[in-house]
Amino acid sequence: MIMLPGPTNVPSRVMRAMLKPIINHRGPEFKELYARILENLRYVFQTKGDVTILTASGTGGIECAVSNIVQGANKILVPVSGFFGERLRDNIIAMGGKVVEIPVEWGKSVNIDQIEDIVKKDKDIKAIALVYNETSTGTKINCLREIGEFCNEHDLLFVVDAISVLGGDYLPVDDWHVDICVAGSQKCLMCPPGLALLSISEKAWSVIEKSTNTFYFSLKAYKKYEKEGQTPYTPAIPLYYALDEALNMIKEEGLENFIQRHILCAKAIYNAIERMGLTLFAEEKFRSNTVIAVKYPPKVSDSTFRELLRNKYKVVIAGGQGKLKGSIFRIGSMGMVTQAEVLQVIAAISMAFSDLGFKLNFDDSIAAVREVFKEK
Ligand SMILES: Cc1ncc(COP(=O)(O)O)c(C=O)c1O
Repeated sequence: MIMLPGPTNVPSRVMRAMLKPIINHRGPEFKELYARILENLRYVFQTKGDVTILTASGTGGIECAVSNIVQGANKILVPVSGFFGERLRDNIIAMGGKVVEIPVEWGKSVNIDQIEDIVKKDKDIKAIALVYNETSTGTKINCLREIGEFCNEHDLLFVVDAISVLGGDYLPVDDWHVDICVAGSQKCLMCPPGLALLSISEKAWSVIEKSTNTFYFSLKAYKKYEKEGQTPYTPAIPLYYALDEALNMIKEEGLENFIQRHILCAKAIYNAIERMGLTLFAEEKFRSNTVIAVKYPPKVSDSTFRELLRNKYKVVIAGGQGKLKGSIFRIGSMGMVTQAEVLQVIAAISMAFSDLGFKLNFDDSIAAVREVFKEK
C-alpha cells in the first residue's frame, strides 16, 4: 500500500481502463473521449473556462503555465515555504522571469498582509505564483481565496500550483479568481503519473495570446487543436483512459463528498498521530488535508524506520525533502483513501516504532481514528 504524497494507490477500475485499444488520436473516438474528459475536468476545477491536459508530470504543467505568461507578466511574486515553492521560483527564473520572493518559515504559510505590503510597494509585479499545498512540509495556504480576490482587484495574474491538492481540498478556481491552476494526475485524482492538468481563465488568455517563447507547451497550440477535438502532439492515450475513468468515479461520488472524504481521513491521521505521542511538523492552522508531515523522535533513522514499514508492514510512506530530509516523514492521504487505509497506516507506524523500542500509545491512536469516522 502506498501512502505517499503521490503517486497514490490507483483503483482497479482505473487500471483496467488503460487496457482498452490504442486509438487514432486524430480520429472520432479520441475526439469523443477528449471532450468528455475536458467537461469532467471543468467539474473538478469548478470552472466554466478552459481546461487542458498535457502529457507531462506536474512540473511540465508548471513550466507550461510559467512559460506562457512570463513575457507578459515578467515580474512575479512567489511566496516560498518549502521545496516545491523553491522549484516554482527556480522554474520562473529558468523561463526568464524576475522573481520577488517572500521567504516563509517551513511549516507555516504566507498571509495576505505580506502579499499586500509587497504588491503595493512594487508596481512592476504583474502576477502572483504560489504552491497552494506545500507537499514537502504538509502545509496549505489558508487564505487562497483572499489572495485571489486581491489579484482580481489589482489586475494581477494568479497562478496556483495545486498539484498535490486538486480534488482533496476546496479550490473553486472561478470563484477564487485563479487564472492558471495546475494539477497532477498521480495525486488526489487517483491516476497513474504522467498527465498535468491546467485550468486557464479569460484573463490569462489575454497574456498568453502574446507569448512567443514556448513551443511544445504552447497553450495557444492546445487551444487551436482542441477545436478539432485533438491535442497538438501525440497524447498518452492509456493515461487519458485512466483519467476518464477516475473522473467518472469522482462524479459518481460527487466532488463535495470526495473532498470531504479527504478532509475526514486527514483529520483521523492527525488526531491519531498526536494521540500516539508524536509531533506534527506543520503549524495547526496551516495543516494540509492531503499530506501529513510528522517529526521523527530524536535518534530515529529515517531509512531504518521506513524500510521496516515497507518490508514488515507493507506500507510505503515518504521521507523529508530538501532541508527536512531525515527529520520528518510524510503520509500522503490522497485519492482512494478510506478508514481502512488510515487504520492500516496508523497501525503500521505505531508497530514499527514499537519494534524500534519506542512506547507509543497504540490503542489511543486507533481509538482516535474510530472517533473521527464515528462522528461522521
Ligand atoms: C506541490 C507540488 N508541485 C510540483 C510537484 C512536481 O510534480 P512532478 O513530480 O509530477 O513533476 C509536486 C510533486 O510532488 C508537488 O507536490
